Amino acid sequence: MTPKNSIFWQIFQFFIFLTISLASNFNYGFSTTYINTSVGEFKIFLNESLLRRGHQMSENQYIWIWNIFLNCWFVGFFVGIWLSPILNDKFGRKIGFLIGNFVAFLAAVLRSLSIFWWSPELLIFSRFLTSICMAVTYQSCILFLQECSPTAQRGNFSFLSEISFSFMTLIGSLLGTDNILGRHLFWLTFSVVPFCFFYTFILFFLPDTPKFLLLAKKSERDAINSVKFYHGKNVDAKKVLVDIRMEAECESTQNSTTLQNMRHLFASPHLRLALFLSVSALQNTVGLWALLLSSTYFLENENIATEISEWSTTAMSLAYVLGAMTGGVIIERLPRRTLLITVTLINNIALLAFVFFAKIRLLIDSLKYGCLISLIIYGYTYGTGVGPISWFISSELVPQKHRSITQSVSYAINTLMVVISTFTILPLYSSIGSYAFIILYSIPSFCSMTILFRWLPETKGREIYEIVNELKMK
Ligand SMILES: *[C@@H]1O[C@H](CO)[C@@H](O)[C@H](O)[C@H]1NC(C)=O
Ligand SMILES: *[C@@H]1O[C@H](CO)[C@@H](O)[C@H](O)[C@H]1NC(C)=O
Repeated sequence: MTPKNSIFWQIFQFFIFLTISLASNFNYGFSTTYINTSVGEFKIFLNESLLRRGHQMSENQYIWIWNIFLNCWFVGFFVGIWLSPILNDKFGRKIGFLIGNFVAFLAAVLRSLSIFWWSPELLIFSRFLTSICMAVTYQSCILFLQECSPTAQRGNFSFLSEISFSFMTLIGSLLGTDNILGRHLFWLTFSVVPFCFFYTFILFFLPDTPKFLLLAKKSERDAINSVKFYHGKNVDAKKVLVDIRMEAECESTQNSTTLQNMRHLFASPHLRLALFLSVSALQNTVGLWALLLSSTYFLENENIATEISEWSTTAMSLAYVLGAMTGGVIIERLPRRTLLITVTLINNIALLAFVFFAKIRLLIDSLKYGCLISLIIYGYTYGTGVGPISWFISSELVPQKHRSITQSVSYAINTLMVVISTFTILPLYSSIGSYAFIILYSIPSFCSMTILFRWLPETKGREIYEIVNELKMK
C-alpha cells in the first residue's frame, strides 16, 4: 500500500481527471446532440441563407443539404480515427490532445460564424472539421485517463469520460430546445466556444502521460514528475516506473512506424485476440444512437401517445447519465469482466423485452408502456457498463506501443458497424417492425457476449503486463 494522499489532494486529483474528460467530451457530447432539438430552426436558417442568395429552397434540396450535414460527421470521424495513432504515438498524447482541441476550438468559432454569415457551406465544413478533431481528442482522452491513473483507480477515472459525455449530450439537447437557446442559433453555437478555449488552454499545463514519457520519450525524470503530478507526491514513483517498464517488456523494443505497428497487431496472436475482444465489446454499443435519437419514432409506431413518445429521448438520456454515474461508483467494487458481461446481458434482455411488449400489446393494449420501460432500462444499463467499459477496454488489453493503433482499428470497425446499422434500422423497422432490433442488435450482441465470456481476462486492479501475459497464454 502506498501512503494515503490527503483528502484535499484527492479532490484535486479528481478535478484533474474530470478536466481531462471534459476537454474532449464537452465539445463531443454537445456536437452530437445540439442539432437534434433545434432541427426546425436549422431548417429556417438554411432556407433563409439560400433565400439571401436568391434561391428558393425546395423540400428536396433541404433533405439533401441536411443529410450531407448530418452524415459528414461519420466521414470526418473515420478520417480522425486514423490521425490519432500518428499524432498520439509520434508526438505524444499531450500534443495529439492539444492539436485536436485547438482545431476543434477553431471549428467551434467557424460554426458560430457560419450562422452569423448565413453560410451553410461553412456550417458543414465546421461540422466535418469538428468530427475529425473529436475522433482524435476522444482517443487522446481515453489514453490519458488510462495511462495516468493509478492502477487501483483506473476504472473510476476512465468512467469519467462516459459520465461527462452522457452529461454533455443531455446539456446539448436541452440547450437546443426552444425555451433555452434553440431560437438563437448563433448563441447556441457560440455558447461552447469559451469552454473550448478554456479546455485547450488548460491542457498546456498538464504533463504528458507517465507511460508515454518513460517508454516512448525514454525520459525517466519527466516520467517521475508526471507520476507525482497524477498519483500524488506521496507515492513511490520509482515503483510505478518499474511496473511501467514491465509493460514494455511484453513487446519488442525497436522503434517502429504506425504501419509496422498495425502489421504487428494482425500478426501477433495476443494482440489479435485483444483486438477481437475490443471489437466484440464495442459491438454492443452499436444500437444506442439509433435507439436514443429515434426512440420517438419507435414508440409512436407502437401506438404510444405522441406527448409521451417525445419525452422518451430525454428520459433515455437521463437514464444514460444516471447509469454512467452508477457505473463510475461501482466499477472498482466488482470484477470488471463480471460487470461488463452482466450489464450487457441485461441490456440485451431489455431489447428483447421491447420486442416482446411490441407484440403482446396487440392483445393487451396497456402493455405497450413496457416498450418505454425497456428503452429506459436499455439506456441505464448502457451507461452503467456496456458503453463506458467497451470504449476503454482496448487500452487495458494491449501494451503501450500498440495501444493507440489497437484503439484506432477497433474504433474504425465500430464506426463502420454504426454506419451500416444506422442506415438500415429505419427501413428495416418499417418493413418488419421491432424484429429489426433482433437482427441488427441482439444477434450480433449475443455473439460478441459469448466471445467476451470465453476470452476476456479480468482487468480490474491489475497491471497491464499481467493482463497481456494472460492473453499470451490463451
Ligand atoms: C432527432 O430526434 C428525432 C426523434 O426525436 C429523430 O427522428 C431525428 O432523426 C433526430 N435528428 C438527428 C439530427 O439525429
Ligand atoms: C422557405 O421559406 C419560404 C418563405 O418564408 C416558404 O414559403 C418555404 O416553404 C420555405 N421552404 C422550406 C423548404 O421550408
